[in-house]
Amino acid sequence: MNDTYNIMVVEDDTTASRILELELKSGGYNPRCFKNAEDALDYFIQHPSDHIDLILVDYGLPGMNGEDFYKKILDLNSVTPVIFMTALNSVKKAVQLVKMGAFSYLTKPLDIEELHYNIKNALEKPTPGNIPGKHSPKRQEIPFAVDNMVFNSEEMQKLLRLVTRVAASNSNILITGESGTGKDVMAHIIHDHSRRKDQKLVKVSLSALPPTLIEVELFGAVKGAYTGAYTNRPGKFEEADKGTLFLDEIGELSPDIQVKLLHTIQDREITRLGSNQPVNIDIRLITATNKDLQESVKNKTFREDLFYRLNVININMPPLRERKGEIPFFVGHFIKKFNQREGKKVRGFSEDALKALMQHDYPGNIRELENIIERALVLAEKDLLNTEDLPLYIISREKFTADALSTQTDDSTLPLSERLMSVEKEILEKTLKKHKYHQTNAARELGISEGCLRYKIRAMGIQKGK
Ligand SMILES: Nc1ncnc2c1ncn2[C@@H]1O[C@H](COP(=O)(O)OP(=O)(O)OP(=O)(O)O)[C@@H](O)[C@H]1O
Ligand SMILES: [Mg+2]
Repeated sequence: MNDTYNIMVVEDDTTASRILELELKSGGYNPRCFKNAEDALDYFIQHPSDHIDLILVDYGLPGMNGEDFYKKILDLNSVTPVIFMTALNSVKKAVQLVKMGAFSYLTKPLDIEELHYNIKNALEKPTPGNIPGKHSPKRQEIPFAVDNMVFNSEEMQKLLRLVTRVAASNSNILITGESGTGKDVMAHIIHDHSRRKDQKLVKVSLSALPPTLIEVELFGAVKGAYTGAYTNRPGKFEEADKGTLFLDEIGELSPDIQVKLLHTIQDREITRLGSNQPVNIDIRLITATNKDLQESVKNKTFREDLFYRLNVININMPPLRERKGEIPFFVGHFIKKFNQREGKKVRGFSEDALKALMQHDYPGNIRELENIIERALVLAEKDLLNTEDLPLYIISREKFTADALSTQTDDSTLPLSERLMSVEKEILEKTLKKHKYHQTNAARELGISEGCLRYKIRAMGIQKGK
């Protein structure tokens, strides 16, 4: 790995930029020069693997100015130190920015010694941005970082702020959102920020249980209540007493259990199956669904009165395609996670690979992205991953043709990842067959390396002549 510091320079004046570039190079730094803030910001967001250690930005830029650029960088929750370069007439502004958390400012024309001194200090000392709340009002507004989780965008920070406010109350919370958007994660965050955090969080996945068992599972049963009930058995409501009960996939609940649940919420008590002794319970109820419950209420498959009881507070998890700015952070997060698990040292993805990851729409949301990164890391042989380490459907949409989808792979009962995997397998098999199993030629047509093709053949169990 390269230990040279990467310094981003945002300067529209070509001569000034060129001088800075040469000066930084001669000082042993790696400059990354941009003529405007928009391009610099794009680069910063899309290339987390090219770690930027310091940003030098001109205050008066055409288009997005230095100040707005800096605010965007802060919005990303970045701690990268920023030094402004400013003409004398905007020094006042620059001072304000330093109060907000920028590292320092330099007046133009630049004094080279002053430049080097500031860079050295910025790279060595913790910046105000590194000390939460010290100089930076912006940072104080960010309520908290949830350990080991990605919540980088302003929108997700807002959602977290809401969650911390409502977590302390006893209100029932309904978490909605597509599959894989982090509903489980959110349920844990709510519990962990509630007064009940030292008590249990008990989760019941309602879709995983046959309807006949749900009642016993939730409410418990006494000995002899049904054939096979040999002992008294507490239900999940009792198990979660004083804590939080998380009912996942609430949209799947059958009508009679819906009634029972409604009564439980109203009366704050349950009665075990086969008993007539009600038991008081004190729980905070969190429910989650990826269904549109309002729609279910409309078509009468879900009780309206229950819906209102559950939906006192609604937390809606946005799909990943609506928060694409967070993708690079998720990628970094999952690389770290799987590096640790696999004992690997992957640094990141190439520019092209990251671009492909940014372009994809993720119908399976964060879970899909996580699976992609996990797969890439498990197969990785080098420390910088490329497009060939990504599934085919991510890198080339044109290969993902209607033709390939139209065959036996279009089994809508299978999870998306498996359907996609079988499409990929089919493409590989077709291409291999076409090239009479000549792997070099097949790999060339597929636009992946031979090594990668070999892995895929092994991983997918593709056999010659099949
Ligand atoms: N903010 C986040 N930061 C890091 N990882 C996350 C975040 N949100 C979700 N994940 C990860 O993404 C995966 C899916 O999240 P989760 O299980 O919470 O989604 P879900 O909405 O409950 O999905 P489903 O509808 O399928 O139950 C998990 O492995 C989780 O750890
Ligand atoms: Mg879930």
